[in-house]
Amino acid sequence: MAPDTSQKIRRIKTELNAKILAHNYQVAEIQDVADVVGDSLELALAAKRSDADILIVCGVRFMAETAKILNPDKRVFIPVQDAGCPLADFLTPELILEYRQKYPDAAVVVYVNSSAACKAAADVVCTSGNAVSIVQSLPHLRILFGPDANLAGYVQEQIPQKEIIIMPTDGHCYVHQQFSLEDINNARKTGGLILAHPECPKLIRHKADIVASTGKMIKIIEQSDERVWHIFTEEAMVVRLRSLFPDKKIIGVKDAVCKDMRKTTIEDLIRCITNLQNEMEINKDTFVSARRSLDRMLDASV
Ligand code: 13P
Ligand code: SF4
Repeated sequence: MAPDTSQKIRRIKTELNAKILAHNYQVAEIQDVADVVGDSLELALAAKRSDADILIVCGVRFMAETAKILNPDKRVFIPVQDAGCPLADFLTPELILEYRQKYPDAAVVVYVNSSAACKAAADVVCTSGNAVSIVQSLPHLRILFGPDANLAGYVQEQIPQKEIIIMPTDGHCYVHQQFSLEDINNARKTGGLILAHPECPKLIRHKADIVASTGKMIKIIEQSDERVWHIFTEEAMVVRLRSLFPDKKIIGVKDAVCKDMRKTTIEDLIRCITNLQNEMEINKDTFVSARRSLDRMLDASV
């Protein structure tokens, strides 16, 4: 990135008292000008605690919605309006209601990769970083969990004493779903440890050495003497890990690109922060219930 581009962004941020929050899957140029780079839980916490007047969320739509719900007095913007999450699209509030009617004794836990309307229809939200502890914290023995069937499966494996009912049964992230046994076998040939995101299918999770959210991946590598790591998640995370750990060998899996995360370019970010366009608005009824579900998650996480 040209030095004047990054200077321009920094100058506007100071003038507006704005902060840029970027997900670990954003391209390096965006991460470089961000104030916070993190996983979904870290971005949610940063949004809630921020004293900036303006938050620019570089990621996908549910992340910007979550930031607005957690800090409604701030103006929150997303550089690209249609940066969505195909996994989130598997779940609707209507489906949650259907499952609730069928299982009235169950608690509804929705993954943060979901619309604000789904969060409003749930009892509590979770991220990949805290899904196990959130489900564990609930008194309910039966949990309705969506939209990610792989994360739900992972939680079920960690907490066998509860019954996790997956809604819908086939919700998945296409980026993680594509990893294969061949990818694992290739990684094993090189040696080192395999780190996989919980959105990966069961076969990958079971063959990996450690299953972790993107934020936890950083901490795990930081605290280990292992030199070689195979990263089964989105490609930008591999780039981030390489820049954080230049002395380690960080290896990714081919074609693991989230097209929606890649929609946001540095030009989009400049346009957004210069013109203050694409402001997030959440309707009042949705806001109140979604906020309650998010607050329950944050209260149970700290
Ligand atoms: P993390 O919260 O682990 O960063 O995951 C978000 C996501 O969208 C994974 O695909
Ligand atoms: Fe959604 Fe998958 Fe992209 Fe994450 S990587 S934002 S789950 S489509």
